[in-house]
Amino acid sequence: MAVTKASDGEPAEELVPVGVKLGSTRTVIVYPDGDERVAVESMTCLTTYRDVLVDEQRRLYGEDAATEYPDESQFMIRNGLPVDAESTDLASTFFSELLAGNGIPRNSAVVYAIPAIDNEAGLRHFERVVEESPIGRGPVRSYPESLCGALPVFEERLDAIDEVFATVNLGGTIFEACAYRYGEQLAQWSTSSITGNRVDRRIANYVEAETQGRVNIDATTAREYKEGHADFESYEPFTDVVQQPGGGSHEFTVECSVMDAVDEYVDQAVEAITTGFLVDLERAYPDIYDRALDRPIVLTGGMACIPGLANVFATRLGQALQHDITLTHAERPDLAAAQGAYEIAARLIEVE
Ligand SMILES: Nc1ncnc2c1ncn2[C@@H]1O[C@H](COP(=O)(O)OP(=O)(O)OP(=O)(O)O)[C@@H](O)[C@H]1O
Ligand SMILES: [Mg+2]
Repeated sequence: MAVTKASDGEPAEELVPVGVKLGSTRTVIVYPDGDERVAVESMTCLTTYRDVLVDEQRRLYGEDAATEYPDESQFMIRNGLPVDAESTDLASTFFSELLAGNGIPRNSAVVYAIPAIDNEAGLRHFERVVEESPIGRGPVRSYPESLCGALPVFEERLDAIDEVFATVNLGGTIFEACAYRYGEQLAQWSTSSITGNRVDRRIANYVEAETQGRVNIDATTAREYKEGHADFESYEPFTDVVQQPGGGSHEFTVECSVMDAVDEYVDQAVEAITTGFLVDLERAYPDIYDRALDRPIVLTGGMACIPGLANVFATRLGQALQHDITLTHAERPDLAAAQGAYEIAARLIEVE
């Protein structure tokens, strides 16, 4: 076990492993609390408001910001990286507040799960967030989000690093697919047009159409509908109530908006895999292509939480490819990347 050096009479403290995924929608931090491994989740958003009593600006982050200020809250991450200097400042503030709010120790080895996309500016912004964060006195590394997210699927978690397999990451602002050969990423393919956020927007549009224009929901509400109700195994129509501009309330039922939107999402995902990712993989690495299709493809990312989605996806992908396809995912695909990052951080401490 690695121990950091005591300085100025401070007692030496053990390094603790921390796994982080700073996602466009949610940030997840996994760390040990006593003998337990805990996961902290927060919406990756921040807002400021004026405290009317003391006339000061105050900051609010996470779920409170998203629900109390749905229009003003800023989601500052895109594809796992801040887009510009301003969103880097926001991300840095958000991350530091989240760490402080949960008492995540400074004496830590930290692994960040990040998207493996070619975005030099984004990576530089991200590095600043990491540098400005109070954690990580021990080793600090980053690994691809989809590799981290696949680790919890394997029996011995770090076994993934000795395997050949394909992954598909179903994120909020990105859809990524790639193959891994002993931890090395091959034939990375991504698009920002098949995403959880787009599904949310589509749900909002469909709800408007389904209610003959009477109901307009915001993106936060659409996401809540999706996360709370989308289910390929046992979807049930549900009702909600909106306040009307002129006073009074209007109750309505959502019959098919949510499932139509996620159904189309799966079709688009199948199309992207068959006509994009797999074409590239077969061309560049024909042996890896054969091996990757003959074993379970690992789904990662929050959209894989939708019950039954993996089965529907596997069936449609199998039909399109005329080949039996198995898909698998961690028990909690939304937490898996941070859990996998935590496992790597724990290993870094062992080998220090
Ligand atoms: N239980 C759930 N049911 C349905 N959808 C979910 C669930 N949990 C999360 N999602 C959706 O998954 C998406 C977020 O996935 P994920 O957490 O992997 O993205 P991210 O890493 O924050 O974003 P990105 O990869 O784009 O940076 C969002 O669209 C979110 O609404
Ligand atoms: Mg992601």
